[in-house]
Amino acid sequence: MSKPTYYITTPIYYSSGKLHIGHCYTTVICDAIARFKRMDGYDVFYLTGTDEHGQKVQQKAETAGVTPKQYVDDLHQQITKLWKALNISYDKFIRTTDDYHEKTVQKVYEKLLASGDLYKSTYEGWYCTPCESFWTESQLADGKCPDCGREVKLQKEESYFFRLSKYQDRLIEFYKENPDFISPRSRMNEMINNFIKPGLKDLCVSRTTFDWGVKLPFDPKHVAYVWIDALTNYITALGYLQEDHALFDKFWPADLHMVGKEIVRFHTIIWPALLMALDLPLPKKVYGHGWVLFGNDKMSKSKGNVVDPLVLADRYGADAIRYYLLREIPFGSDGTYTDESLLLRTNADLVNDLGNLVSRTTAMITQYFGGTVPQPNEYTDLDRELIAICEGALPQVRKDMDALSAPDALCDVFRIIQRANKYIDETMPWALNKNGDKQRLATVMYVLTECIRFAATLLLPFIPATAARIFDKIGMPQPTDFGALDRFGATGEGVTVHKGDNLFDRIDVEKELKELNKLAAAQQAEKAEPETPQISIEDFAKVKLATAKVLSCEKVAKSDKLLVMKLQVGDEVRQVVSGIAQYYSPEYMIGKTVVIVSNLKPAKIRGVDSNGMILCAADGKNVVFVTPEKETDSGKEVR
Ligand code: MSP
Repeated sequence: MSKPTYYITTPIYYSSGKLHIGHCYTTVICDAIARFKRMDGYDVFYLTGTDEHGQKVQQKAETAGVTPKQYVDDLHQQITKLWKALNISYDKFIRTTDDYHEKTVQKVYEKLLASGDLYKSTYEGWYCTPCESFWTESQLADGKCPDCGREVKLQKEESYFFRLSKYQDRLIEFYKENPDFISPRSRMNEMINNFIKPGLKDLCVSRTTFDWGVKLPFDPKHVAYVWIDALTNYITALGYLQEDHALFDKFWPADLHMVGKEIVRFHTIIWPALLMALDLPLPKKVYGHGWVLFGNDKMSKSKGNVVDPLVLADRYGADAIRYYLLREIPFGSDGTYTDESLLLRTNADLVNDLGNLVSRTTAMITQYFGGTVPQPNEYTDLDRELIAICEGALPQVRKDMDALSAPDALCDVFRIIQRANKYIDETMPWALNKNGDKQRLATVMYVLTECIRFAATLLLPFIPATAARIFDKIGMPQPTDFGALDRFGATGEGVTVHKGDNLFDRIDVEKELKELNKLAAAQQAEKAEPETPQISIEDFAKVKLATAKVLSCEKVAKSDKLLVMKLQVGDEVRQVVSGIAQYYSPEYMIGKTVVIVSNLKPAKIRGVDSNGMILCAADGKNVVFVTPEKETDSGKEVR
């Protein structure tokens, strides 16, 4: 019989910056669910990926002096490295710059155009020129750009629109018939009251102000804008509208889209409406989890000292990070990250409870039975209490995981561990040994080994590397399913334990906190402007500066920041691109004398050749170009 399928997704991560520990939250939760479902008999497909198009990426790449493709390639590498370090077992990683995705997005736009759900109109919004971003009235902060706080102006732009308004009633109907579609329930009310009831407006789904995106095949000056390109990843990854669509046939509709609470709206309104427009079945559930906060801030916006998750994983192991995120952050609501709570949680649960149980038990079996797990004799009531906890654990953990609550599931597993530690204190094996009560001692060792086997099996989805090490230590093969949890007593004869190293070393919290502070400060300093080193006169002599006269000047197409000028530099005429369009009009520049770096390597900026750089005085808000104090010829050396 074929297994039931389970399709789970994370959002695709923006490729416009480094990921922090908050980002790891969605991926780690999904990983635990995916691993649990695999062990619980499902054929799982776990998808994650990167959201690589858009203006932000284009701008960041420009600032970094690389192409957008180089920029996203580098981030893609960093992100997959992080997922590897955290042991994320995704089945596929999609990049929105993947050829198959781009082609399918184009087909989706064509389909929507053909069915009348896509139409061309004019987008009117508040535009922030320095940020090159449109904002809606409600997004503005005190009437200003919510990103940079500067003035915005009302601007119109030709755009394609998705007929979202048409799906309003069908969406409400769908929510009614599927009350668990949006989870937790509170988020459903939020969607209906805040967004659907006030009325859905058609959605602008193309842009002409930048070009780092999927070009609309029927109107290539437009690129797909954000949500259609991003959301469709969940179906393009499976082969939707492609030659090989076996995965799509098998796994769609998704069982679970796990997303952070700030993007629930897109996944529960735009996404289902789009699927309705494409005549596709809707996903079964969208879960909006809370945020990992740093102080009062969602980390992505925080400027605080947060250590890179790769460094944390390297220092404390992937499982300490996984365990912390899964256990400490209350599922569905926000939780606060602190280095201290990470270290304390690791010491309390992983070092003390789990580590001690395994090391004490393996040490005692080695000492009292030469390492071979003895067979049990008659069970007492005390033993039976532990047996009941073990045998009841899988159904309980399964119930927790059905509710997607990893913290509860882990509490239930740790109940076995904590009870077993107490059992050691209660049975006092050292006294049994001293008194020569080998029979009882054998039963106690057997009960403890079984408790460890149950706990380790159930821990495999959450802290897989540690659970695997436990199986090594207790001399058993790592199970791939929960089959052997139906019966206490499955451990047969002749199993040999190996105590080996500690599972986790105790962390000196005070000392580590100091180290982490230093690391975070170093990270911040790395991000900050490097200190300007002093240079010698010989170094300075390498820079050739010259006066130049602006012969002509115009704006660079599709950029609000750039001007392109023809300059007279002595006998020579050169073209230079300069980022001063927000401060000077082209007309103003014509005839002015400027100072340029004349021996700068030529470069292409937004596809336009630039041969030199105009010197300006800038303070972050204002920019003025440098000009000689008296009229002078062009091409004069400036020293
Ligand atoms: N690219 C969009 C999603 C498109 S899906 C079709 C996006 N990307 S993101 O990189 O900003 O976020 C990816 C995931 O990380 C989201 O689930 C988001 O909620 C999560 N987190 C980002 N910061 C977070 C915290 N501080 N805490 C918990 N999760 C957070 O949105």
